[in-house]
Amino acid sequence: MPSNEPHITPHAAPAAPQSERIPDPCIVVIFGASGDLTKRKLLPALYHLEQGGLLPERITIVGVARRPLEESFAEDMRDGIIAGGGVDVEDPKLAPFVGKIQYHAMNFDDAAGYDALNRKLAAIDQANGTCGNRLFYLATAPEYFSDIINFLGEHNMAKPPVETQPDGCKTWVRVIIEKPFGHDLDSARALNDEVNKVFDEDQIFRIDHYLGKETVQNILVFRFANGIFENVWNRNYIDHVEITAAESIGIEGRGPFYETAGALRDVVQNHVMELLSFVAMEPPVSFEASAVRAEKVKVWKAINPIHPADAVRGQYGPGLVDKKPVVGYRQEDRVHPRSQTETYVALRLEVENWRWAGVPFYIRAGKRLARRVTEITIQFKQPPLLLFKEGKGPLGIHPNVISMRIQPDEGISLRFGAKVPGPNMEISPVTMDFSYAEAFGKSSANGYERLLLDAMLGDGTLFAHRDGVETTWGLITPLLQAWAKDPVKDFPNYPAGTWGPPAGDALLESEGRKWRKL
Ligand code: BG6
Repeated sequence: MPSNEPHITPHAAPAAPQSERIPDPCIVVIFGASGDLTKRKLLPALYHLEQGGLLPERITIVGVARRPLEESFAEDMRDGIIAGGGVDVEDPKLAPFVGKIQYHAMNFDDAAGYDALNRKLAAIDQANGTCGNRLFYLATAPEYFSDIINFLGEHNMAKPPVETQPDGCKTWVRVIIEKPFGHDLDSARALNDEVNKVFDEDQIFRIDHYLGKETVQNILVFRFANGIFENVWNRNYIDHVEITAAESIGIEGRGPFYETAGALRDVVQNHVMELLSFVAMEPPVSFEASAVRAEKVKVWKAINPIHPADAVRGQYGPGLVDKKPVVGYRQEDRVHPRSQTETYVALRLEVENWRWAGVPFYIRAGKRLARRVTEITIQFKQPPLLLFKEGKGPLGIHPNVISMRIQPDEGISLRFGAKVPGPNMEISPVTMDFSYAEAFGKSSANGYERLLLDAMLGDGTLFAHRDGVETTWGLITPLLQAWAKDPVKDFPNYPAGTWGPPAGDALLESEGRKWRKL
């Protein structure tokens, strides 16, 4: 029977052979280790690397936070690793790995704590042969970033304690800084200045975990390693681009953070802008960090200033998510009862360059939407359809669409029109699908694996650079300022569990378009 949805089954491909690159022995020091990120993402990611044989034998992980967790920390991380998935409790590598986890309690603004930490790291170098190499990970609340950076500088911890490792190679100290990197252009610049006083740019790794996702890196492979897409990847053939980063979760107890962030700062300035740059950039001359960054920055710099009329804010009220009642944003813990923070944002952007001028990029991101889905949709222009005017068929003739599903159900699909079998020239939309899970097997990687490994190897290609961070803040800061002066009167304006406020749909409808149904 002919199927409406022809399916391309990729040849059963084995998972790609793992990288041969093993980092130098080192200590990974995580500041803010009692927080959720360390347990839910960082330790599971480090363990996935260990499972893949990608970590050095001589590695120690030191969690740093205020609370006295010396007794429980390593075991707690073990639970996190197991909960992260893809790990058997009996896995023989697990206990030795947990044995490499240590803890150090200190206040981030206490000079004596850094002295003690420094002594501890030196003792670990002696005992475990970690050679003076350090990867500091700032996973604290952002208000501590500059204190930690400055204290590391003042305590001579930003430079390796010895110049060379026993094998003669140079020792290194690097720092990963979590997002949010600043809260507007001025604060991002100020933070960059502070960090650059203490660390050289090649020691700094500003992380955006979206860049660690396979599906995000695959955008570049899809575009540049295949001959058939790049020729049509421009304003002559593309009608518009949609980027949706929808979450069904709310703010998960992070009221104080989210109140100062909102969807534009939390997700659009970083994750969505990264996705947009991968979709829109010119091919870099190589995958070297500087070549990729240069192309990304060109895209962001070509974006026209965002007019407030092209931006929609939303905030969720009470509603149903997965058929269960949930509270509205203003009723969440530690959220102001008349909060003006947006939990949804939709924007219309234009990238004013030779490839893209005139092609609208519609972006939306939000919490408590109908489902969790991050997807990029490339909708192509309709060809002249006179030939088929009699044969539209019940489903009509739809434009071609390439949709890249970043998560979940990772994959790519191409929609095209096919002749419905029968005596008439009827056309129906059908899709060709590529699914990561079917082609390569299921993966429990969370995006942090690749980035942690790259930072240990000193490869900054998938990290944000000073220029990039300031350019994306530069794009959204005028909008943040305009919004701050113009409070919204109709918040909450969408019930939890829906696709956002009607104005988000109207943004496309006013131009005769519609968000793709996800
Ligand atoms: C984080 C945001 O950067 O990304 C969170 O702070 C958001 O609010 C998260 O939930 C989304 O990440 P992912 O990988 O689940 O899409």
